[in-house]
Order: sequence, then structure tokens, then C-alpha cells
Amino acid sequence: MKASVTNGLGQGFVLEEVDLAEPIGHEVRVEVKASGLCHSDLSVATFIGEEFPVVLGHEVAGVVTGVGSEVTQVGVGDHVVGSLIQYCSACVNCLGGRTHICLRPEATLRAPGLPPRISRNGAPVAQGMGLGGFAQEALVHENQLAVIPDSMPWAPAALIGCGVLTGAGAVLNSAGVQQGETIVVIGAGGVGMNAVSGGLIAGAAKIVVVDIEDAKLERAKAFGATHVVNSRATDPVEAVRDITGHGADHVFDFVGARPVTAQGLRMLGKGGGLYLIGVGSLDAGIDVNSMSALNGSQKVQGVYMGSSHLKRDIPLYASLYLQGRMNLADLVSKEIALGEIEQGYDALKDGSTARVVITDLS
Ligand SMILES: NC(=O)c1ccc[n+]([C@@H]2O[C@H](COP(=O)([O-])OP(=O)(O)OC[C@H]3O[C@@H](n4cnc5c(N)ncnc54)[C@H](O)[C@@H]3O)[C@@H](O)[C@H]2O)c1
Ligand SMILES: [Zn+2]
Ligand SMILES: [Zn+2]
Repeated sequence: MKASVTNGLGQGFVLEEVDLAEPIGHEVRVEVKASGLCHSDLSVATFIGEEFPVVLGHEVAGVVTGVGSEVTQVGVGDHVVGSLIQYCSACVNCLGGRTHICLRPEATLRAPGLPPRISRNGAPVAQGMGLGGFAQEALVHENQLAVIPDSMPWAPAALIGCGVLTGAGAVLNSAGVQQGETIVVIGAGGVGMNAVSGGLIAGAAKIVVVDIEDAKLERAKAFGATHVVNSRATDPVEAVRDITGHGADHVFDFVGARPVTAQGLRMLGKGGGLYLIGVGSLDAGIDVNSMSALNGSQKVQGVYMGSSHLKRDIPLYASLYLQGRMNLADLVSKEIALGEIEQGYDALKDGSTARVVITDLS
């Protein structure tokens, strides 16, 4: 099959011929119909990744074409969406319903000693996040797949797996935003827009979006932002204090740059929470003054994958989309072919592009 392979840091995405093993145990073979370009894969390919060669791609939707002998949760012909959340079902966190922080995520991968799922000329190729969605087919543990209605279109379906789970889940699950509260979304990209949607679903009174590009802010308004702030033109901390009167209840940082995260902390009102989601560089982080945090009863929380339970939340967002209650269609700005990933990531630099999705896998 064809796959887009990343051979080393900074070596981009190259269309190559690779081999996919037959499904065993809990594995499911998926014919990929759509695969989204998330910023995190670009980070892995440029500065985070450690394992090469690798097939990246972790926003995948497709049809099940084969199952291993122990698969019980999906069947051939099912339409599925994959997620990079890897969980074992048996550890104390999984048993407590917090599958996103499973203690044994490697249970979803092949045990050491078994032949690799993906190979090239007989040599192993790593599989990004247990998915490897930048390929014509993927071999995935059934725990990483959720079944969606057949009527769900492929491109928006693929985005649910990461960007939507992360953005909407940060608001609905991690922060538990209540009706009438005020939220700030810093970074109006493909993930941040889903935090806006999450704010609408939660009944947030004010949804303030901060970005440095006017085109992104215009799109944020179309998604439901009640206020937008261009932080290149206006001091965003003062703007948020003016809009809210007393500071925000929840601030979601989808950028992950030290000065931006520090601004996020200063936007908080009493009892507010700052959620760290974006990672712009390896030294992204924040200094917290204990006295001011305790006086304000404020918290800072790292958020992984919107604290989502993929088997519950992927079908939920698909059904909200089909009912017209969640805007996923406008996230898909551009559709490309499997061999055009480099151009796809270039297109994301343009302010008018939310998400690029591979839908031509021929
Ligand atoms: N924590 C998780 O589980 C998780 C999951 C998925 C993605 N992510 C991360 O979320 C982040 C957002 O992903 P995305 O795909 O939406 O990225 P994106 O590139 O589409 O969006 C980032 C947005 O931030 C804006 N921005 C850049 N600098 C800014 C600044 N100084 N102030 C305000 N806005 C600024 C950009 O204009 C852009 O609109 C990435 O870092 C990604 O790796 C985290
Ligand atoms: Zn992602
Ligand atoms: Zn577990």
C-alpha cells in the first residue's frame, strides 16, 4: 500500500510503498477514507519525534475491512473514527473512566518480538500514535476506534478523532464549563474552533477568542465567538478584563508560548482555571506565583486530549454534527491527496485555512 513516510526530523512527508501486516488479536484493518493534518504531527516531524521512519497521521476515518480473532467492538463494514488515546481497559484509571490517562497504553500495541504492523522492504516502520493514518490502510487496536453513523461524511468525521475531542473536550470534560460562565480561547486554529463549539454546547455566556490573525478571528465569530481580540493590535489581558468585568472563569491556551501562557494566567478571575493544551516549543510553560494563585483560588491544568472517552465522545460529536448542533463542516478548508501533505501543512500557515484533510487516497 501507499503511505506517507517521515524518515527523520525535518525530512518531511514522502509518498512510499510500505507493507501492512494482517490483523491479529484485537487489531482492526481500516481502509482510510479521510485523514486530517493536525499541527501535532508537524511538531513530531520537525522537533518532537524520536522514532523514524514513521507513518504519522492521527485524525483518521475509514471503513473496517478486516478484524483479528479477538475483536468484539467493531465489525467489517463499520464506519470508524480513530483516536490517539490508547487505553488498556483494565488499569485503575481506565476502571475509573479516565481512559485518556491509562497507565498501560502500550497494551494497544503489538508486544515486543512480534512482527511490526508496518514494514518497508522487510524493515520495521513505526506507526504514529498507534494509528499511522497518512496511508491507504491502517492497522489499529479496537480500543482506539469508535463506530460512527454511515451517514457521517468522511472529512469532518476524521477531525473528530483529535481536533474536536481536544477542543470541545477541554471545555466540556476537563474544565466542566457551566452555563453562564465566561471562557477565553487563545489560538483560533483547527483545535481552538472546537473549544468555541464546546462553549456553545455548555451554554457559556461569553466566548472570547484571541489570535494574531484577523482572518482567524473572523472565522471564530462564524463559529460562535461572542468577542474577538487581535493580540497584535490590543493588549489581550486588558481586553479580556474589559469584556468580563472581573476576569475569565476559564482560559484555554492552544498556542503554548511562554508570553502567551503568562497572558492567559493574568486573564483569570477569582476561582478561574488556565488549561494548557498547545505546545509551541519544548520549553513552553509558565511560572505561577503561589500567593496570587492562592488568593485567587486559581488553578493551572495540563489537558491531554480533552480528557475524552473516545467511545463515548466520538459518536456524540458525530450525532451533534448530524443534528446541526456542532459546526464541523467549516473546519474543512481544503481537501488534498495523500502525496500532498507538505503543501497541506504550508496551506495551514494561511490564516483562512482551518484544517486540511486528505480525502484522495488513490
Ligand atoms: N493537549 C493535547 O492533547 C493536544 C491535542 C491536539 C493538539 N494539541 C496542540 O494544540 C495546538 C493547536 O493546534 P491547532 O491544530 O489548532 O494549531 P493551529 O496552528 O491550527 O492554530 C494555532 C492558532 O494560534 C494562533 N497563534 C499563534 N501565535 C499566537 C499568539 N502569540 N497569540 C495568539 N494566537 C496565536 C495562530 O494564528 C493559529 O490560529 C497545537 O500546539 C497542537 O500541537 C494538543
Ligand atoms: Zn492532533
Ligand atoms: Zn488503562
